[in-house]
Amino acid sequence: MKEIITYSEEETKNIAKQIAKKMNKTGIIVLSGELGAGKTKFTEGFLSNFGLEKEISSPTFTIVNEYKNEKATIYHFDVYRLADIDEFYAIGGEEYFSKGICIIEWGEIIEQALTEHYIKIDIQKDEKNLEKRILHIEEK
Ligand SMILES: Nc1ncnc2c1ncn2[C@@H]1O[C@H](COP(=O)(O)OP(=O)(O)O)[C@@H](O)[C@H]1O
Ligand SMILES: [Mg+2]
Repeated sequence: MKEIITYSEEETKNIAKQIAKKMNKTGIIVLSGELGAGKTKFTEGFLSNFGLEKEISSPTFTIVNEYKNEKATIYHFDVYRLADIDEFYAIGGEEYFSKGICIIEWGEIIEQALTEHYIKIDIQKDEKNLEKRILHIEEK
């Protein structure tokens, strides 16, 4: 377990970019943390490493969005609205794992579906400092 403290959106995006640099063509990142923690901003930073989308929103209604170019294929999930893990299986969620890098907001909801290695990142807000975040990074 590693802990990283950031004091701005930019810093969080930078951490995400560093993590993205170490990834292969596939791999799973689970992002957890309350609304407004920075899961989507983290994803933006991650995408920027591959020259992909600068500004995105959570794929709330579609569950998953694809970002793709010659460098990488990235599936950005937001599984908050899934009722349970069976719904994840029903949308063929697991099939994406072999197709590209999967970055999953509220991923703790579908953690049981993850049989392979993944990186879990929990982003914690601070009560006093509105721009401070603690990132707990764990290899699972
Ligand atoms: N250190 C920080 N890291 C990430 N986001 C931050 C930070 N400080 C402030 N913010 C702000 O918090 C919000 C995070 O939003 P977002 O990434 O959409 O959250 P989530 O996807 O977890 O709901 C953004 O408005 C961002 O500018
Ligand atoms: Mg989000």
